[in-house]
Amino acid sequence: MDKHRTRAAVLTGVAGHVPPGTVTNADLEARLDTTDEWIRSRTGIAERHIVPPGTATRELAVEAGRLALKSAGRDGVDAVVLATATPDRLCPATAPEVAAALGLGPVAAHDVAAVCAGFLYALSAGVGAIAAGFAEHVLVIGAETFSAIVDPEDRNTAVIFGDAAGAVVLRAGDPDEPGAIGPIRLGSDGTHSDLIQIPAGGARQRSSGTVPEAGDHHLQMQGRKVYRHAKERMTQSALDVLERSGWAVEDVDRLATHQANARINEAVADELGIPRDRVLSNIERVGNTAAASLPLLLADSAAEGRLRPRDRVLLAAFGGGLAWGAASLTWPDVTAFAAHTYRG
Ligand code: UT7
Repeated sequence: MDKHRTRAAVLTGVAGHVPPGTVTNADLEARLDTTDEWIRSRTGIAERHIVPPGTATRELAVEAGRLALKSAGRDGVDAVVLATATPDRLCPATAPEVAAALGLGPVAAHDVAAVCAGFLYALSAGVGAIAAGFAEHVLVIGAETFSAIVDPEDRNTAVIFGDAAGAVVLRAGDPDEPGAIGPIRLGSDGTHSDLIQIPAGGARQRSSGTVPEAGDHHLQMQGRKVYRHAKERMTQSALDVLERSGWAVEDVDRLATHQANARINEAVADELGIPRDRVLSNIERVGNTAAASLPLLLADSAAEGRLRPRDRVLLAAFGGGLAWGAASLTWPDVTAFAAHTYRG
């Protein structure tokens, strides 16, 4: 590589993983005041995967990481970045345990907390480490166990979220190579931090000395308000990335957005002027898997042939914080490992 050119981070491996257990809309219908029709028409979700008791984010992350390394044909990296809003413990980070379980040795390993935008934030950390020369190879994982933080009796959240992990491997390379991560745009608006939150368990609640209300240890989401922000922010950051990539809207072969709601994703595509048949989706089978969502979607889509080498891909995500982001890349020739436990 010409040493005067900027180093790029190139995607060389991708994989997804879901736990085997599923909760279908019919299962939810049986115990909540909801219907399959409501869930499908409002969100596009038919089922979601849930971990068995005792399994948590580390196990999901390790499996996705292992498969992504296999996809990249590697057994080592210099750094592990784990995006998660559901770390196994509040302290320490989960990434060092994931690195150890993968047998990666004493590599740099840290968590990134940006909820549903977490994967793009973690990706930017991996890209930055490579661009700065700190690392040659980085494993970027998004993994979540939302079933551990969602109130199973809360129909606002229980019908939406699922457990999963997805991962990519990055290596130092050339900006013109397929797989090179292009421009990334990230943003946040903490004035709306209450829209998606777990009120209890953090330093603020503990420091206040107050006793948490029942339900305060569970995820709370004001869905309708979030919807509007999600649509606007993903559209705007995607437009920004398009411009910085030097792409016209027609150049986009695939739009890969965070899988929170099929309606939001279609609305973003419509706003951008991207035909709906270019929108990637797996929400029907996995629900909203927060930081795992984008790498899981990429792995599934590539394994199913919906995402092909040289496709120009626009990525966007949005979530609690509020935090959001977008990025672009030309898809590389890579063997993707999809979450293998899907039925049908
Ligand atoms: O992943 C990170 C970011 N998160 C998001 O991007 C999520 C964004 N928000 C959404 O996806 C949607 O707002 C939801 C899927 C969460 C909710 O859909 P909605 O179309 O915005 O519904 P709503 O909250 O406006 O509720 C409409 C009605 C309400 O009844 P009324 O007041 O009209 O009588 C709700 O009580 O639907 C009711 N409702 C339900 N009904 C059956 C809410 N949840 C359910 C449910 N089953 N599970």
